[in-house]
Amino acid sequence: MTTKTMEKSRFLVAPISKFPEDGGVCVKIGSYQIAVFRSATRDEWFACDNFCPHSGDPVLSRGILGDSKGEPKVACPLHKRNFSLKTGECIGGESHYKVEIYPVVIEDGNVYLEVDSAMVHKGENL
Ligand code: FES
Repeated sequence: MTTKTMEKSRFLVAPISKFPEDGGVCVKIGSYQIAVFRSATRDEWFACDNFCPHSGDPVLSRGILGDSKGEPKVACPLHKRNFSLKTGECIGGESHYKVEIYPVVIEDGNVYLEVDSAMVHKGENL
């Protein structure tokens, strides 16, 4: 049995100063949209799909950051479903709704995403 692993690339998004302190920004990488969040309150960064799996609308970067029992989450601005920013699971049930999570790397004052190399091929920065 063989396992296929996807090669990862680091994508430069923007300087930290381009991000609101407790909010999100939509980053376009080719045809993908990723919501990148800076939580100044937790001193952490998160990233997930920008498309809410409930309606398919590109809205999660405008969601409200918070936490559920210590787990960071974003609440969709349309119908308030909550998604864990650690696992991508819909918190409180509806397990068929899930978002992809992406690692965020902060280096030398810049924000990077670690994504599948195929996504970076035609990416755009902020
Ligand atoms: S569109 Fe996000 S919860 Fe409905």
